[in-house]
Amino acid sequence: MAIIQTTQLNIPDHIIDFGAGQPSLSLLPREIMAQAAAHRLAQNDAALLQYGAEAGDGYFRIALAQFLSQGYKMSVDPEHLFITLAASQALDAICKYYTQPGDTIFIEEPTYFLALFIFQDYPLRIVSIPVDEQGLMIEALVEALGKYCPAFLYTIPTFHNPSATTLPAERREALARLSEEYSFLIVADEVYHLLDYTAPPPPPLASYDRRGTVLSVGSFSKILAPGLRLGWIQAQPPLLKPFINSGLVQSGGGLNPFTSGLVRSALELGLQQEYLGQLKAVYGHRAAALSQALRQHLPGATFAEPEGGFFIWLRLPEGADTDTLLARAKAYDVAFKPGSSFSQQGGVKNYLRLSFAYYEAEKLIEGVERLTRVIQK
Ligand SMILES: Cc1ncc(COP(=O)(O)O)c(C=O)c1O
Repeated sequence: MAIIQTTQLNIPDHIIDFGAGQPSLSLLPREIMAQAAAHRLAQNDAALLQYGAEAGDGYFRIALAQFLSQGYKMSVDPEHLFITLAASQALDAICKYYTQPGDTIFIEEPTYFLALFIFQDYPLRIVSIPVDEQGLMIEALVEALGKYCPAFLYTIPTFHNPSATTLPAERREALARLSEEYSFLIVADEVYHLLDYTAPPPPPLASYDRRGTVLSVGSFSKILAPGLRLGWIQAQPPLLKPFINSGLVQSGGGLNPFTSGLVRSALELGLQQEYLGQLKAVYGHRAAALSQALRQHLPGATFAEPEGGFFIWLRLPEGADTDTLLARAKAYDVAFKPGSSFSQQGGVKNYLRLSFAYYEAEKLIEGVERLTRVIQK
């Protein structure tokens, strides 16, 4: 049966899995992509099917830079963009071209658990820096910099996965200055930056970069569709050279040129902008419904009201073990990601991550009711 699967995740209908950090199928923009594809193919431009320009198609990079300049509220130069196969491949390429075997890298504790898998594909020493309710703790970073010389720090500054925190402007500034002082790169995973539901976050880390120490990673996975496998690295041009000069790109040309062409139309026709507005309304509504249900049913649990992104990071009383809880939750047809998944050291055990991206409000509320029964047991 496995051969006929088409999607990565296949959740049986009777289960509500809060672990699903991806959009519902019903939200995916089939009509927008049909319109964008029809528009691009009507141009009768065979170059769309040719090996692509190394950094990514120039017209696409111009359209992307304009879109980002508007969304990021900073001027984005198309020459500062390298097109990737979404954020995951960007992270893999950064490990490949910016580390040597045995190098140390810094990550956050907790962090996006699948990025950990990418880093573990390389022989790297991984050191965790704690996150508090405002994101990466600068004092802990300074302390770690006294002991190690990391090749890079991997951080999720905005609407963090899993902790939902957003790094304030002063910490962004401090982080950028530290990267200059201690000569390490900042790999800022900014895939949720444009998904704000209450107030816009501070500008992405690239806007704090003075000396070419920031690689800012973005993706269409969260704002258009994961199946496009399309994203970018934003950085000063010298930092993009290893990607452009790589054997992969020299041999195969720029990454994903056909899809870039279709998404170029979605950008130029204003379809992406319109869709982003719809997504923000839908996710904002789901986030509010999930928070309200948690406050009502689980008053003993604490969390920060989500201001963007996909997640609520729920804290249970000290001593709770969400791995054990997950094992018990199966009997109640509910699931989530336990805190330990996001930790290098198996810590944050009394936390769990709930995604509000995958289900509509009614299912989220039903899921909280099931979860409440598990926790109260
Ligand atoms: C923080 C973070 N980075 C990267 C990714 C993967 O993104 P992409 O689909 O662009 O590879 C995700 C997806 O869940 C994510 O949450």
